[in-house]
This record gives sequence, C-alpha cells and structure tokens, in this order.
Amino acid sequence: MHVTAVVPAAGAGTRFGGAVPKQYLAICGLPMLAWTLRALAASGQVDSVILVVPPGQETRCRTEILEPCDLTVDRLIPGGADRQASVYAGLAAGPTETDVVLVHDGARPLVTPEIVRAAVRVAATEGAAVVAVPVTDTIKMADADGRVVETPSRGRLWAAQTPQAFRAGWLREAHARALSDGFRGTDDSSLVERIGHRVWLVPGSPENLKITTTADLVRAEQILRGRATHDT
Ligand code: CTP
Ligand code: MG
Repeated sequence: MHVTAVVPAAGAGTRFGGAVPKQYLAICGLPMLAWTLRALAASGQVDSVILVVPPGQETRCRTEILEPCDLTVDRLIPGGADRQASVYAGLAAGPTETDVVLVHDGARPLVTPEIVRAAVRVAATEGAAVVAVPVTDTIKMADADGRVVETPSRGRLWAAQTPQAFRAGWLREAHARALSDGFRGTDDSSLVERIGHRVWLVPGSPENLKITTTADLVRAEQILRGRATHDT
C-alpha cells in the first residue's frame, strides 16, 4: 500500500499576524513545519510527501526549513487562494498510483505518529477517516441576527482535526466535484461526505491543536517541553 501525505501550509496566518508566516516560526528551536513533517515521517506509514506553500515561497521554504532540518519532500508546490484550493493543487501534484492520501495541516505540528497511523489504518480498511475530539463546550446554532435556533446534543458532536485520510480515488473525486459544483468546505471530510461516502471518526487529541494565535504557540511549546522531559 502506498500512502501520500498532502500538507497544506500555504496560508497567510492572518489571525496569527506578524511579519513571518506562522508555519516558519520556531517552536522549541525547530520551525513549526519541521515538527509537522517529522511527525509524519516518524509514523513510518507515509511514502510520499507533497508540501504546499504560499506561491513564491518555495525557495525560502527549501532553504530556511527543509535543508537546515535535513528534511526532504517529494514535491514542493505553490498553494491556492484557500485551503481547499491548496489541497486540490497538492492532489494534482501527487503520484497517480497512490492508494491512500492523508491530508494534514502544516499548522498542526503536535500530531503524534500514533494518530497518523490510526488515520491511515482506518482509511485503508474503510475508505475514509477523520481525526476528531469530542467537543467540550456546548455548541449553539444561531441565525444571522444572533438568535439561537438550536442546541445540538453535545454527546454526538466532535471537533474535526487533521490528519484526514482517504482512499485516493474518493478524495480526488470529492475535490473535483466540489470544484465543479462551487462548493467550499472547511475540511476534506466534508467534501467526501457530500459525495455519499461514509467517513469514520478516529480519536485525536486535545494536544493536536492547530496553531492559530500566539496563545496556541505558547501552549505548543509547553506540550513539546513536556514530551521532551518524558522522553529522557
Ligand atoms: N492553508 C493553505 N492554503 C491556504 C490557506 C490555508 O494551505 N490558502 C493551510 C494553512 O497553511 C494551515 C491550514 O491550511 O496549515 C489550516 O489553515 P489556518 O490554520 O486557517 O491557517 P491560515 O489560513 O494560514 O491562517 P488564517 O486563517 O489566520 O489566515
Ligand atoms: Mg485560514
């Protein structure tokens, strides 16, 4: 079985702010993106890596992150206007003969090799897997005026993370159909769901956070320091 990882890292980090795109910032001395790529490699399950970066940043990424950290990827390509477009570009650049495509945000450096392996395993057997955690807050659905219209039962609500892994043909078809239908989704699973495939939840971890704000970066440092203490 051949597994390709598509790593969307082509965002601008608008909510994070700052001069340097967040994916290049150091966490415990290593760029965020390097932690992400290391975790994928450490899973022992990923055969090809397609890294998607902001257009024009290919050289910078190679010289400032990949080479100093001794990391290699199979393709380094420019992304698109939103996450979905970046993943689509990654899929188009990937090997055609791959069995499973695993999509993992560059901005989730704390993923563990175990979570990656679990996602690949479920995608290989069932076709589609989304890593998720139970929500801890009660979630409200509201109308445009801020009026609460529904409170879905929390016991059935999950917060989707990445990785999300799929039979390659399903994900390619899901993206192609979303594009032709003009559908924009905030994750890959939603595109696969809407073409009728069953997607299975895989337990993630609250530690597998997406670095969105500076507070997330502080928390990520704490978690990684904790892991380093554990390892020694
Ligand atoms: N992403 C991407 N291409 C885009 C937008 C986002 O590849 N056009 C990637 C980001 O680099 C990140 C992941 O998708 O790894 C999740 O996106 P998010 O956390 O929203 O990052 P940004 O879009 O960079 O941040 P913001 O929304 O605050 O601008
Ligand atoms: Mg974004």
